[in-house]
Amino acid sequence: NRLLNPALPLAGKRVLVTAGGTMERIDPVRYITNDSSGKMGYAIAEAAKRLGAQVTLVTGKASVAVPAGIEVVPVDSTMDMLEAVLDRFDDCDIVIKAAAVADYRAARPSDKKIKKKDERMTLELIKNPDILQTLGERKTKQFIVGFAAETDNGELHAMDKIRRKKSDLLVLNDVTVPGAGFGTDTNIVTVFDESGLVVALPQLSKREVAERLLVLIAERLKARGG
Ligand code: CTP
Ligand code: CA
Repeated sequence: NRLLNPALPLAGKRVLVTAGGTMERIDPVRYITNDSSGKMGYAIAEAAKRLGAQVTLVTGKASVAVPAGIEVVPVDSTMDMLEAVLDRFDDCDIVIKAAAVADYRAARPSDKKIKKKDERMTLELIKNPDILQTLGERKTKQFIVGFAAETDNGELHAMDKIRRKKSDLLVLNDVTVPGAGFGTDTNIVTVFDESGLVVALPQLSKREVAERLLVLIAERLKARGG
């Protein structure tokens, strides 16, 4: 086994990061999406590259510039993101799912602009596949990291998600806390594994959060002989 180079702990590793928000078309001029600036995911992709990895960034809608020197795969919908990730999954060592994935899509997207008519209208939505859970079921050697943005009962939801989706780590941020979450340059995250709390990081720049996470991932991969 390769020695862990402290400067480049991800040398030789293939890392796939998802970031941004997926969007679901309702008609040619309208869509549903989630809040996500893409900042955290892009910071992770950039940090993985700095730490020596070969990085692919599968990204939905984001409001920051795509990082230089990284393979970028733009996607629109959750189904597109699922396909892009599955196409690359076998070759990956680490998958980090920072994307804000739309849970539902329009049951019948319209190819023409929908005209307003009645005082009320109902839009039927159907559940999207869960990408992280699909990966958890298919994983062989891959180290899989999920994210959860919560407003309440964070730890409870985090533990439920990590077990349900068979992730190796889950990164929780409470989006109600100032300095954490959407659009900010800093984040305050807590990391869990299937047995519970791993580490609660203080408020840090997203760049630092990304580096700390990746060093933790590299250590865990090494500890299991990867
Ligand atoms: N995720 C995914 N596919 C989905 C939904 C979520 O891959 N269809 C991933 C996200 O990218 C994230 C993790 O699952 O890494 C947790 O997302 P979250 O929205 O918090 O979980 P959900 O299971 O959708 O639960 P909730 O009802 O809280 O939205
Ligand atoms: Ca969700």
